[in-house]
Amino acid sequence: MDIDWAALERAAVDVAANAYAPYSDFPVGAAGIVDDGRLVVGCNVENASLGLSLCAECGLVSALHASGGGRLIAIVVRKGDGGHIVPCGRCRQLLNEVGGADLLVDTDGTRRPLAVLLPDAFGPEDLP
Ligand code: THU
Repeated sequence: MDIDWAALERAAVDVAANAYAPYSDFPVGAAGIVDDGRLVVGCNVENASLGLSLCAECGLVSALHASGGGRLIAIVVRKGDGGHIVPCGRCRQLLNEVGGADLLVDTDGTRRPLAVLLPDAFGPEDLP
């Protein structure tokens, strides 16, 4: 599949404008392309309890399922100002579930398979 990385980056920065990040003032956006061509996005949503805050990638995974599921092929994550950010450990694990080792992840203009960010991942295939 041809991946329009520029469109994904625009969508990631755009959706970060909808982030609810009053505590960190650190808006994040994520945009991904699904194996059927759909574009899915997510932004971080914080909570007064702080520890319950949801990352942008978490919202994207929910949007993926809510809009019909499928496999994630490529994802771009950006700060609201377009700056670079790498997915936290929890989000790497969430992304592994829906994209696997071959999911292409752009955090800084380069594209790396998720296997580089989360080597030897525990995943669905490890369960009976
Ligand atoms: N955040 C994300 O949205 N994705 C990440 O992968 C790392 C961190 C958010 C969570 C919190 O709302 C803010 O960035 C500061 O940690």
